[in-house]
Amino acid sequence: MINPFKLIILLCLIAFTACSQGNDKEKIQLAFNPDDIIALAEKNYTEALTSLTVNGRMPRNANADGTWRTVPLRDWTSGFFPGVLWQIYDYTNKEEWKESALEWTWPLAELKDFDRHHDLGFMIFCSFGNAYKHTEEADQYDILVQSARTLATRFRPEVGTIMSWGNIHEENLVRHQTIIDNMMNLELLLWVADKTEDEELKEIAITHANTTMVNHFRKDYSTYHVVEYNPSNGEILKKRTHQGYQDNSMWARGQTWAIYGYTMMYRETGDPKYLDQAEKAADQFISRLPDDVVPYWDFDAPNIPDEPKDASAAAIASSALLELYQHTEEIKYYNTAIQLLNRLSSEEYLANTENYQCVLLHSVGNKNKDSEVDEHIIYADYYYLEAINRLTDIVSDI
Ligand code: GLY
Repeated sequence: MINPFKLIILLCLIAFTACSQGNDKEKIQLAFNPDDIIALAEKNYTEALTSLTVNGRMPRNANADGTWRTVPLRDWTSGFFPGVLWQIYDYTNKEEWKESALEWTWPLAELKDFDRHHDLGFMIFCSFGNAYKHTEEADQYDILVQSARTLATRFRPEVGTIMSWGNIHEENLVRHQTIIDNMMNLELLLWVADKTEDEELKEIAITHANTTMVNHFRKDYSTYHVVEYNPSNGEILKKRTHQGYQDNSMWARGQTWAIYGYTMMYRETGDPKYLDQAEKAADQFISRLPDDVVPYWDFDAPNIPDEPKDASAAAIASSALLELYQHTEEIKYYNTAIQLLNRLSSEEYLANTENYQCVLLHSVGNKNKDSEVDEHIIYADYYYLEAINRLTDIVSDI
């Protein structure tokens, strides 16, 4: 028989472990006030709007000295700066944020016929998609519709996916490359397909998602970054990485694009196989998170724990997991999202030091090229603020 003294120690240990780790039934508490995060966003982005001018380029990285690195409108990140302004408007409902968001959204209208890469979805849906949600202006609707049609021209039926990079019209093309990130661009297609009852756009998005489900996932539901196809018959030539550590490693942001992308596919189509895929990709991601939850830039990076963290992957995951929780009511997705948001909403990650005019520090763009390593990157702010907005929709009493 077990010694009563040992039994008491054992029960105390079990109780302590349950309290310190949370359990599957209890919701983890917020360790921050969302109003404080939005106040920081309002303060820093007000300064950004004062220092920046609308000049045919878009802000991408905030620097410690109060300046920004800007990029051409054709850069894949160009929709996120106006997108951030829309997220702030979403939370605050203040007219001045809507006016600024519109001012920074309209320059992107010229992209509606831009067919040189697959990221038109990010660029147009984060800007005009959010604009239309709030204003329902016919001119914005037309831009969304035309952009979706342009994006659809990159779909190659022989492969069954949209071509992510390169000139779709190139003769003698030897490889059609599709990256996991491309899942995010399907939201524009499905939104427009629904509004216009365009079955072809819907079919393209569904075919792309189905092909990606078969070819981009490993047995454990981690994802390859890039799949190269033979353009004439869809045969797979190579599965590889571009921004991850190795071809077979789990690049953190890529995995979060997959979780977000398949959750969105379920929302837009109602097909349960997409929800199942999102859950499996999420479970793989969650099972490998480090103790302090914010992922390293690649889960298999060689020098963990001496590798940079990627706040952008944490931000995308928190937003995606909150939506996944809404569809599944699985508390593990809610709790992981809150753990990620609690960590991001701490002194270590928030840009309330020096003269940064942004919200989140410590993201990684492309470690392999030593580009944007441990920096602010605009899409981290976008998905973090989107997650804060989603959270307030879910939890009305915070
Ligand atoms: N879509 C490119 C990236 O996630 O860096």
